[in-house]
Amino acid sequence: MRSTVYVLGCLIAGAVSAQQAADAVDPEAAGAGAFAGFPEEVAASLDAKAAGVPVVSDNWMVSAANPHAVKAGADVLSAGGTAADALVAVQAMLGLVEPQSSGLGGGAFLVWYDAASGHVTTLDGRETAPLAATPRLFQTNEGEPMGFFDAVVGGRSVGTPGTPALMAEVHARWGNQDWASLLQPAITLAQDGFSVSPRLAGLVERDQERLASSDVTAGYFLPDGVPVQAGDRLVNAPYAATLRALADRGTVAFYTGEIGASIVATVQGAENAGVLSQTDLAIYSVKEREAVCARYRGHDVCGMGPPSSGAVAVGQILGLLEGYDLSAGPQDVEVRRLMGDAARLTFADRGRYLADSDYVPVPVQGLLDPAYLAERAKLLAGDDALPEVSPGDPAFDHALHWADDVSLELPSTSHISIVDAAGNVASMTTTIENGFGSRLMVGGFLLNNELTDFSFRSHRDGVPIANRLEPGKRPRSSMSPTIVLKDGKPVLAVGSPGGSRIIGYTAQAIIAYLDWGMNVQAAVSAPHAVNRFGKYDLEEGTAAAELEGGLSEMGFEVGTRALTSGLHMIAIGEELRGGADPRREGIALGG
Ligand code: GLY
Repeated sequence: MRSTVYVLGCLIAGAVSAQQAADAVDPEAAGAGAFAGFPEEVAASLDAKAAGVPVVSDNWMVSAANPHAVKAGADVLSAGGTAADALVAVQAMLGLVEPQSSGLGGGAFLVWYDAASGHVTTLDGRETAPLAATPRLFQTNEGEPMGFFDAVVGGRSVGTPGTPALMAEVHARWGNQDWASLLQPAITLAQDGFSVSPRLAGLVERDQERLASSDVTAGYFLPDGVPVQAGDRLVNAPYAATLRALADRGTVAFYTGEIGASIVATVQGAENAGVLSQTDLAIYSVKEREAVCARYRGHDVCGMGPPSSGAVAVGQILGLLEGYDLSAGPQDVEVRRLMGDAARLTFADRGRYLADSDYVPVPVQGLLDPAYLAERAKLLAGDDALPEVSPGDPAFDHALHWADDVSLELPSTSHISIVDAAGNVASMTTTIENGFGSRLMVGGFLLNNELTDFSFRSHRDGVPIANRLEPGKRPRSSMSPTIVLKDGKPVLAVGSPGGSRIIGYTAQAIIAYLDWGMNVQAAVSAPHAVNRFGKYDLEEGTAAAELEGGLSEMGFEVGTRALTSGLHMIAIGEELRGGADPRREGIALGG
């Protein structure tokens, strides 16, 4: 396996610093032995990230949120496996070592570039609402929205998981390695125990009250009532047993077998009980959907359409900015004005029109129509922040009469980017929604709270909301797994966790690469400035915070805060160059 650190020296002033990055991953600084015992190339990759330079390789590359998971994927790729095989191994391992973000109890979206056909397709493994769920699931008896965590914690928020079905589908379509062998590294580590990472330990510490709401979950994360610490060895025998059942019998064990029965019993027996049934599990299916692509700077930016808002929103932001020059870079307040208001216009459309297109008509083409975006982009021509932003009127052959959405998504989730030796590209964002999901655990994995991605209100002033909860519907997502192509060939794979900020993180990474000329590591490390619904969030402790005065003078409401993206990005050219977000624990590894 050859994986070299390639020093381009293109760090930008005020990016998440090498020291911040090192603090996030350094075993000495972060907790005894958290990343000890990895081979040299993993250590080299951690060093590359801390130094702000990409990892470079000739044949294949994987970038994801935890070194154990990346190593599992790298081993598959170096043995001749495809990106699909590696994806299965990475996801199985993430469910063990980064259980708070994604896993068998959640859902995912995949964007896939097939090297043989040159075709980009997407697979929708999103969770679905149970057939017995009603639009009032998250409302009080008075019809008012429940408090967010009153809805999240317990069985009420759990949708039918899609990740196991997606893993099997991906493997069946594009894998060439034995299915069981792909799960084995995670089985072995679950049995032997893994070293708790600093990030997992910190999140357990912060969430201990909610984790204590379930005895099973508390028993795992808070043994004897004490949060697990960085460097603790954590054995997960139930997860090993779950993966063994999947290895032996495939997803039947999950959707119609004993694992599914345990999920249903747990959801229905929880204090805040849910309505998920065995029928919901039995009828679950992964959906293939056309990739949604937008033009930007001579590239095709392709991603996941509804029920995700990701590709439409990233495409709208880029489309609105297409006619403006952003080359002055991230510290230019005018560039940030344009990016901030482009995002606000996008979020106004998203809140009104984006939902599961199997249930409501979504004007995807109209929203991405260059003429529509060019007209709306004229709103950006002034010097100050837009005083008001409202949804536009995209062309569509169906009456569009929706009220604006009311839903809250908090940062969580994980992103995986992979390129294999044959040139196939996988960009998958995977989630259980909130950190630790519903806080319910079955078979060694956490169950999602994805249903809280629906609007808690079903209507406003008598007008229905497109993203209202309906039986069998998939909640709107912000997940934005993306593949960027030039002349039909892939040049970038990128995506991030981060709730509805995913859209801003992903759009900025693409702009950083295409407009600001940054290498992939600098692009993911670049300080964030994210606007969604009006407030401009600037990343504290970075150069982005210096924009506060200028943006305030333009009329933006501005604040600084942590902006914990988890971008994993691969640039594809003569060589492969990988970057991993220094704000989290991931790495890129190539060969
Ligand atoms: N739950 C995160 C998302 O789907 O956007």
